Amino acid sequence: MDSTETADSTGIGPKREWWKEAVVYQLYPRSFYDANGDGFGDLPGVEAKLDYLDALGVDVVWLNPVYDSPDADHGYDIRDYRSIMPEYGTMDDFDHVLAGLHDREIKLVMDLVVNHTSDEHEWFRKSRQSRDSDYRDFYIWREGRGDGPGGKGEPPNNWESAFGGPAWTYDERTARYYLHLFDEKQPDLNWDNPEVRERIYDMMDWWLEKGIDGFRMDVIDLISKAEGLPDGDADSGWTGSEHFTSGPRAHEFVAEMYEEVLAGRDVMTVGEMPGATVEEAQRYLGPDGDGLNMVFHFEHVSLDYGETGNRWSIGEWDLAEFKQVLTKWQNGLEGEGWNSVYLGNHDWPRIVSRFGDDGLYRIESAKLLATLLFTLRGTPYVYQGDEIGMTNFPFEREAQVRDVSARNFVERKKADGWERAEILEVVTMRSRDNARTPMQWSDDEYAGFTDGESWIPVNPNYEAVNVADARHKDDSIWHYYRELIDLRHARDVLVYGSYDLLLPDDPDVYAFLRTLGDERVLVVLNFRDGTPTFSLPAEVAFDGTELLVSNYPVDGAKPRSFELRPYEARVYELE
Ligand code: NOJ
Repeated sequence: MDSTETADSTGIGPKREWWKEAVVYQLYPRSFYDANGDGFGDLPGVEAKLDYLDALGVDVVWLNPVYDSPDADHGYDIRDYRSIMPEYGTMDDFDHVLAGLHDREIKLVMDLVVNHTSDEHEWFRKSRQSRDSDYRDFYIWREGRGDGPGGKGEPPNNWESAFGGPAWTYDERTARYYLHLFDEKQPDLNWDNPEVRERIYDMMDWWLEKGIDGFRMDVIDLISKAEGLPDGDADSGWTGSEHFTSGPRAHEFVAEMYEEVLAGRDVMTVGEMPGATVEEAQRYLGPDGDGLNMVFHFEHVSLDYGETGNRWSIGEWDLAEFKQVLTKWQNGLEGEGWNSVYLGNHDWPRIVSRFGDDGLYRIESAKLLATLLFTLRGTPYVYQGDEIGMTNFPFEREAQVRDVSARNFVERKKADGWERAEILEVVTMRSRDNARTPMQWSDDEYAGFTDGESWIPVNPNYEAVNVADARHKDDSIWHYYRELIDLRHARDVLVYGSYDLLLPDDPDVYAFLRTLGDERVLVVLNFRDGTPTFSLPAEVAFDGTELLVSNYPVDGAKPRSFELRPYEARVYELE
C-alpha cells in the first residue's frame, strides 16, 4: 500500500478516506425548520439553515426521506422514488439544498429505502391488481394457511411486523396475503426478482448522477428472506427475524448493488442493520467484503430492553456491558472495516435522557456523551438537536403521540387493560416521537421552528433549551460540540488511532486510549452523578500531558489519578 494513503508514516496503518474523517449531521427535515408556515419542516427550511450547519462545522448531512410518500411511517413509505413530497417542496428546492451544501463543502447522503415501498407505489398498485400482473412478483404474495375465517386462511407464517401485529395483510382483490415487515402500508419488495433489483439500481444511479454523495440504506440487512418463509421463534423480540436478518442472499444482493452502482464512485455508504453482529458486519464492509463503508448496528442501543426483548419493555442499562459491546465493535472492525458511531437518531429516545441525566446534569452529561461520540474510532453521527442537549418529551396525553409504532403500542396496551399513566410512562421513555419534536431554534413560540402550528408538539423546555441561547453562551453544549468537531478535524489520532479500553469492569467510568504512531490520547468519562476516583493503570507510562478538552474547568490536575465530578469528561494528550 502506498504510504501516502495511510494516516501514519508506516504505510501499514488505516487507509485515509474522506468519510472516515467526516462528521455527519443527521437532519430530520420535517422537524428541522419550516419556511412556509404550514407547521411542517421543508427543504426551503433546510436551505435557510445551511449557514447554521456550516457554523457547527459538519462535513456531511444525512437527510431523512423527502421522497413523495403518503406518510404512514414519516416518509419511510415511498410512493415515488424520483419526486419530492409536496410538503417538503419541489425538486428545484432539493437542487438548491444540494447546491447550497456543496457550496459550503458539505456532502449530502440520502436515505435509501428499498426493503419496501409504499402500498401506493405504482409497482404495488399494479402488483395487487391480479395474480397475473407483470408486477405480481415485485412483492411477496402468499396464500393463507388452512381455511380460516371467510376462506382467507391464517397468515402464511407467524412473522410479526416491527410495529406490532402480523407481518401479513390479506388483500381481498386477489385473495392473497402480502408481506410487510413494517406497517401494512409498507409492502416488502421481492429482492429475489432480478427486475426489482435492476429498477432499484437504476434509481440509485439516477440520484448519484444528480450529484448526491452517498446513501444511508434503510434496514438493508432485511432484504433477503429465507426460502419457504418458515415460522419464527415466537419468543424472540421480533418473531421471524432469524429468517430475514442477513438472509440467504443478503450478501449477494449488497455485493451486486455495489458492483452495479457504487464501485468506482467516491461516495459514502452506511447500511442500517438491526440484526448485525460483528462477523456479519465484516462481511458487508470493505474492499474484500460486499463493499459498504459502514453499518449501523443496534447492539449498544438495545441493552436496556426488558423482558419482551424489544423497546417496549424497560430494562436496566449497565455501563460495564455498554463498554463491552462498544469495545467489541471497536476491536472487531479494526482491520478493513470501519465503525459508524452513534448514540441516537430519529428512532430512539434523546441521548441525554437515555444515557445521561436530563435534569440537574443535562449540560454536563450532554457534553460527556458528545465527548464519547467524537473520541471513539469511527465516523461520528450527530443527531439534530443533540448539539443543544434536547431531551425526551414529557407526554401528558395520548393525543400527543404521532409515531405509528408508538400509536400501535398504545392501542395494544389499552386493549390489555393497562392504566393510561403506565402507558404514557413507557411512551415517554421509548417513543420515537421523543427525537422528532421540532428543533428548538429560539424562545419564540413553537421554538422558532414554524410561524404556523407545529405538526408535533414542541418540547416545553424550549424557552431554556434553544440554539439562540446556546450559541450566545461560550460554555454551552453547542460550543462544546464545535470544539470537539474542530479537535477531531485537527487530530488524526482521534480518527485513525487504535482503541484500547482501560478499566473494563469499572461500573462508573468509561476510559480508553487512542494511539497513532507516537501520538496518544486518553479519554476519561464519568457516567454517574457521583464522584468516583480515576486511576490510570500503572503500565500506561507518559512524560508529559496536555488537557485537550473537558466539560468542567480543570486546574493543573494530572491524569495519573484524580477525582471526577458528576458526568465529568476529560481528554488528555499523553506525551
Ligand atoms: C428504519 C428507519 O430508521 C425507521 O424510521 C423506519 O420506520 C424503518 N426503518 C422502516 O423503514
